[in-house]
Amino acid sequence: MADSKARLGVLVSGSGTNLQAIIERCEDGYIDAYIAVVISNKKEAYALERAKKHNIAAVYIDRKSYQSSIEFNRKIKEVLLEYQVDYVIMAGYMQLLGLEVLKAFPNKVLNIHPALLPSFPGEHGIEDTFNYGVKIGGVTVHFADEEYDNGPIILQESIEIKDDMTMEQFEQEIHDIEHKIYPKAIKMLVDNRLKIEGRKVKII
Ligand code: GRF
Repeated sequence: MADSKARLGVLVSGSGTNLQAIIERCEDGYIDAYIAVVISNKKEAYALERAKKHNIAAVYIDRKSYQSSIEFNRKIKEVLLEYQVDYVIMAGYMQLLGLEVLKAFPNKVLNIHPALLPSFPGEHGIEDTFNYGVKIGGVTVHFADEEYDNGPIILQESIEIKDDMTMEQFEQEIHDIEHKIYPKAIKMLVDNRLKIEGRKVKII
């Protein structure tokens, strides 16, 4: 019954390829949930179009319409509550999520980062990994907290950065991993298989 399924709210800022992977894995039943709403802080985010194509509510919230970050985040919380969201999934959401939202969804907010945290946090995880010269890169899915790219880690997957690899090839491989492990982590979350113990997340 559709109504018994968990409801996801997805926060985006960009092209939404991760959103697309999540939509598809909800639609094919791998994740026992559906996306109730997609919220973007960027009007032009192609992720909003992807949502509409799948008849998912797509909401743009303009930071500039709010006097403070607190008010802006309060609005995000209101929309998530309005759509009766159970879990919040940040999928390329390029803004720090406010405490208003985190407190409303304790241990129910996930983020994905295209590097092996705690290395290379921030906006340019892929480029920073590649340019540093490390031999291994990867992807991290973690619970979100009030700091960027910081909460307890759920899943990581690594790839070797070979000498002859171009930045473009590396980027593509990172995205391929993201589209595979984010649905996997979301499935674990929705299936209640994640137990947080301090900084550690046990998969039960
Ligand atoms: C992804 O690499 C994500 O890890 C990072 O931003 C990118 C978003 O891509 N935070 P998309 O919008 O899902 O295509």
